[in-house]
This record gives sequence, C-alpha cells and structure tokens, in this order.
Amino acid sequence: MSTSTATLSEKIEETRLKVSAALETVGDLRELEELRVKYLGKKGEIKSLQKGLGGLSAEKRPKVGAEVNRLHDQAETQLESIRERLEAQELSKRLKEESIDITLPGRNNKTGAAHPVRIIIEEVTGVFLRMGYDIHIDREIENDYYNFEALNFPPDHPARDMQDTYFLPGGLLLRSQTSNGQIHYMEQHKPPIKVVVPGRVYRRDSDPTHLPMFHQIEGLVVAKGISMANLKWTLETFLKQIFGPETRSRFRPSYFPFTEPSAEVDLWFETAPGQGKWMEILGAGLVDPNVLLACQIDPEVWSGFAFGMGVERLAMVRYGIPDIRTLYENDVRVLTQFRGARRASLV
Ligand code: PHE
Repeated sequence: MSTSTATLSEKIEETRLKVSAALETVGDLRELEELRVKYLGKKGEIKSLQKGLGGLSAEKRPKVGAEVNRLHDQAETQLESIRERLEAQELSKRLKEESIDITLPGRNNKTGAAHPVRIIIEEVTGVFLRMGYDIHIDREIENDYYNFEALNFPPDHPARDMQDTYFLPGGLLLRSQTSNGQIHYMEQHKPPIKVVVPGRVYRRDSDPTHLPMFHQIEGLVVAKGISMANLKWTLETFLKQIFGPETRSRFRPSYFPFTEPSAEVDLWFETAPGQGKWMEILGAGLVDPNVLLACQIDPEVWSGFAFGMGVERLAMVRYGIPDIRTLYENDVRVLTQFRGARRASLV
C-alpha cells in the first residue's frame, strides 16, 4: 500500500467523521448550508479529495475513488434528511408564532362621539319635528335688517346693547340671534307656519356662563288665534320631553323688541339633592305685530308666538356642566363621556 493511498483513505475516513460530527450539532438551516458548502461545494473538502485521486496509481484509483464517492453520497443523504427535519421544525415554529390567539381580548378602536351640543340640537329638533314643525337652517353672516330692523329694533335703540355683536365690512354682521331665521322664513312661506331654526350665533361675551359663539334654536308659530296659553303649553311639553316629566320651569315677564308680551323661561338646575338654582334657558313671547307687518303678514288675521333657546345652557343643565367653556375645550376625556348619552331626567 503506497503512502499516498493510505493518506487519501485516511483523509476520507477523517472527513467522514468530521461530516457526521458536524451534522450532529447543526442547529438551523443556515448552519446546514454552511456545512454543505464546506464539504460538498465546488471548492469543498470532498471535491478536493476527488481531485487527489489523480495522484494515485491506476490500480488504486477505482477502489479509493469508490470510497470518495460513497463518502460524497453518504454526506449528501445525511444532509438532505437533516434539511427535511429542520425545515419541518422551522415551519411548525412559525405556525406556532404566527397563530392567532382567539381568546385574547380585542384591541380597542377609538370611535368618535357626538358632541353634547349636537346631541341636544338633535333631541330638541326631534321633539319639534314630532309636533309637526319644519326645520330651517339660515345664514350666520347677516345684515342689519334681518338681525335687528325687521325684528323691531329701531336704529340706535338701547335694546341693541343686549346683543353686542361682531360687525363685518359692507354693513354685514355675525348674527346675534337665530331670530333672523323668523324673518327669512316668513318671507318665503305663507302662514300657517310652524318652524324651528337651529344654528350658531355670536356675541361679544365671554365668561363661565357666556361664550362669544354659541348655539340657539329658534321657534316660530304663526296661525289664527295663537295666544300665550299655546306658547306656555308648547314650551312646558317640550321641556318635559327633554328633561323628564318632573321638570320644573317658570315663566318670568321680560322684554324683547320682537315679542309682546315677552317672557323668559328658567329651568330648575339641581346641584345636589334638594339644592339648586334657576337657570335662564330661553326667551319667548307673542310675535310683535310690527314683525308680522315687516313680512307682509296681516296682524289682524294672524298671530303667533316665538321662542329662542340657548343650546349650551340646555347642555349644562342636562349634563350638570358648571362651566360653559368646558364644552369647547375639546378634551376627549370630557367629550367621550357623552357617548351614547340619551335622555336623562333632571330629578
Ligand atoms: N332672540 C332672543 C335672544 O337671543 C330670544 C328670543 C327668541 C326671545 C324669540 C323671544 C322670541 O335673546
């Protein structure tokens, strides 16, 4: 036996042992691939053994050649079976990691909530809709005629100071009351009329109970033989619908240029059991004949009542909000408390 034969055979045996040992400890597919390149690759150790065959004598070559080929095939078979095992392992690991645990609690999606002012507007207009009223939306940028003059505010009359508003160039202003909707509606419709006008109004005011922008809902009824009794019944019925049958309200004599007689309505705002205060929520009265005349409606034939309520005031009473500005700070922690808020009794 020549030395080179012995050496090559020894090397084959040595390589066989190394391959087996290395495959024993292989941990993942990447390591396995490294081993494949190291032993079975084009420049791998088994290849170089095959190249060494060229240095053998013609008689030795077939035998040793067969040994190298056996080593090559054996290593390949082992490697393949380990690859299959590792692939199966990896797959089951992934399946486990990526599976969905349907017993986990769901993730919370943040959904929006209606603003309390919006809730009140929808409830109030809803009550009047059911009483057969129309809903009318009117402009916020108005002129002096519709905001004051047609509503029987004479020029320079001190009553205008009650509603100090914002003036715009060109004789325009931001409406200080939804009462402008009364005039526009009467110009467009013939009596009998039953309408509510919700919307934004503007005044130069800002303190815990007043805002420079707030919402009102105007009401107007024009028909034959309308009296103060119809107004009182309508408002009391409406307030009980919104605040519950035990609602306490009171009428106080008041003054508005566009109603005669005029009244203000207060609602009992309970702060603690047995304690509370009266809170003004709306103005009302019988439509002044001058207002009907301005809209070509004959006051000898028709009469009417009107009312205007502050939406934010209603929200404060309804939800027990002490500072009106809370409604516009847009703190979601506050606003989401009204999610799903429905009619709650005052008492
Ligand atoms: N427009 C009045 C205000 O803003 C409220 C009101 C409306 C009073 C209709 C009487 C009739 O104060």
